[in-house]
Amino acid sequence: MSTTDPLLSTDSFTEKVVFVAGGTSGINLAITERFASLGAKVFVISRSQDKVDRAVEALSAVTPMAAGMAADVRDYDAVAQAVATCREQMGSIDVLVSGAAGNFVSDAASLSPNGFRTVIDIDLVGTFNVCRAAFEHLTKPGASIINISATQAINPMPGQVHVCAAKAGIDALTKVLAIEWGPMGVRVNAIAPGPVDGTEGMARLTPTPAHRERVLSAIPLRRYARLDEIANTAAFLSSPAGANFNGAVLVCDGGQSVLGSGAFAAAWAAA
Ligand code: HXC
Ligand code: NAP
Repeated sequence: MSTTDPLLSTDSFTEKVVFVAGGTSGINLAITERFASLGAKVFVISRSQDKVDRAVEALSAVTPMAAGMAADVRDYDAVAQAVATCREQMGSIDVLVSGAAGNFVSDAASLSPNGFRTVIDIDLVGTFNVCRAAFEHLTKPGASIINISATQAINPMPGQVHVCAAKAGIDALTKVLAIEWGPMGVRVNAIAPGPVDGTEGMARLTPTPAHRERVLSAIPLRRYARLDEIANTAAFLSSPAGANFNGAVLVCDGGQSVLGSGAFAAAWAAA
């Protein structure tokens, strides 16, 4: 991955431990790789042991200290166990990234209550579980939390009632935790990406070239974000250069949300 932030160097996170929920693929894996490339020890969790094993193997090429275990963020006890295991194996947790999520397209009238609840449980309840379980280990200088939101939190989108509600909840949770935990030294921020190239999320949301073209037309930069741009945002926010950010939701979307939800929703509906 290319380095675009001159404030960060290969030893910026030496001796730091980064715990990433949902860190076994896509954006969260790119974030984990970025921290590893900056010297961090990294620990990832997700549901699939196979995905954990593959991610740990890939991360081990970047850092000598990569580990993980299978855990579902909907299960508080499993998350707490993973946090304890990370502490045992790596000694601490300095940065927590909460990015586990689920998404599919369904209009509200067709969506079952369990379908709605499932995404709320993974994204929002899961984020609370991860933050809550790690909190006691993060009350020390330089620690921080990054929650992964999405522009759906501020741009209502058809077919995404479950995701919009979950991500708006994550933004609110982030700000409350920033107020409550800031005085104890724990900074809590979120990143809200717009469409990111080469991800499972966009494979689900823009399954055809026509979808993709319509969505691109509603982004002022006329391109999707790259994985390394989200990863560098996470590294910056967690670094001393980002030390005064607390309760922020950093939108990284090529200007998509500046247009408001109208253009994006119209592009979406027309695709
Ligand atoms: C309608 C659906 C559905 C679909 C599942 N459900 N898929 N409803 N349309 N396509 C319903 C099911 O019918 C069921 O309700 C309920 O949701 C739970 O389904 P399960 O399959 O039992 O859930 P589970 O095994 O827990 O899997 C969770 C999942 C799955 C979210 C449904 O897709 C998943 O594991 N996703 C993880 C990967 C992912 O989504 N990555 C993309 C993240 S991108 P009933 O009533 O039948 O019991 C992202 C934002 C992108 O989050 C933003 C881009 C700008
Ligand atoms: P992804 O590759 O599917 O990543 C989701 C990760 O979460 C996977 O590692 C998955 O692994 C894990 N996960 C899912 N459910 C889980 C659960 N219940 N417990 C523990 N782990 C779970 O998707 P992505 O597109 O890169 O998205 C990553 C994050 O970015 C998400 O928070 C998403 O909302 C956000 N985002 C994405 C985009 C985009 O353009 N893709 C835009 C805005 C925001 P397992 O399957 O092994 O559990």
